[in-house]
Amino acid sequence: MTNTKATMSQASIDDTFANFDNNNNSIENSSDECILDSFRYIGGRRFHNVLDAKYFLPNDNGEVDRLEGQHFLYRHIWQGNFSSPVTQRLQQPGACVLDVGCGPGSWILEMSCDFPSAIFVGLDISPIFPPEQKKPPNATFLQANLLDGLPFPDGTFDFVYQRFMSSALEESQWRDEVIAELVRVIKPGGWIELMELDVVCTEDTNAPTYQRFNRSLMDFLADRGINGLISSKLKGYLESTKQLTNIQCEERSTRIGQWGGRLGEMMCVDLLEGVAACKPALSQFMNITYDEFDSMLQTVRMEVDSSQFCYKTHRQV
Ligand SMILES: C[S@@+](CC[C@H](N)C(=O)[O-])C[C@H]1O[C@@H](n2cnc3c(N)ncnc32)[C@H](O)[C@@H]1O
Repeated sequence: MTNTKATMSQASIDDTFANFDNNNNSIENSSDECILDSFRYIGGRRFHNVLDAKYFLPNDNGEVDRLEGQHFLYRHIWQGNFSSPVTQRLQQPGACVLDVGCGPGSWILEMSCDFPSAIFVGLDISPIFPPEQKKPPNATFLQANLLDGLPFPDGTFDFVYQRFMSSALEESQWRDEVIAELVRVIKPGGWIELMELDVVCTEDTNAPTYQRFNRSLMDFLADRGINGLISSKLKGYLESTKQLTNIQCEERSTRIGQWGGRLGEMMCVDLLEGVAACKPALSQFMNITYDEFDSMLQTVRMEVDSSQFCYKTHRQV
């Protein structure tokens, strides 16, 4: 399988913006867009520049901070970094672990310290990896596009972990390519763990602005072939490989906003930072200006604080 990174040439700039602008509306905020080889910059945020990848969230320092904070929240919510029964296996010298779409590598950094005799590999389309001096000797990072196939031989890993990739992968890619590729690289007897989240609000929640944002996000994703609520499908896709046994799904529901106490308030900040990260892509799709998006964000903040929102996270093991 090839592992070539498709960087963009000037000729394909229009195609890229057309990808972000499915209605073919004129592009607002275009004055601060510019194209470089490795990254794209839109609305003051930095993005990956890989042609065939649909992932639309930024990869700049602000996003790295968001992902790092989010890592600590979910470790707390789940009381641990994984649910699979792999502890003994990872204590064996030379056990190999892969984190697909590892982002800034918070999970790998902790896991590689907790299991110093195992070898950890983090793979991401964007090179937002920790600096050399922060990397334990048993951790390494690799820039690659999962959709080009994982650049490892069959049966390489004891444990393959993948978290929060629902906005990166089309439903058909999950079904037809990605899960098969994760299965291909695990050793016989190895484990795969997928963790995804859905944001839900109780039926009586009065949050019209959030509902509008959420509907637009789901439509934006659907236009790109992405199912923003993929969690419920994953067990079926794992089963359909007919190569996996012991498939289990766990769920945690976490209150967001004031009704969730201190954790709820931190989750609210995480949700709002997530919404803000959608601004360059979503404001265009919703055909609103950045200022209008920002004022929508303020209203979402008030709605979330006075309503009953939950994050539901799922681990498929
Ligand atoms: C929401 S972030 C989650 C990061 C990390 N897993 C975590 O939980 O903190 C999704 C990550 O997937 C990466 N990604 C998106 N599409 C990808 C692809 N086709 N191949 C590899 N990585 C990809 C993004 O660059 C981003 O770092």
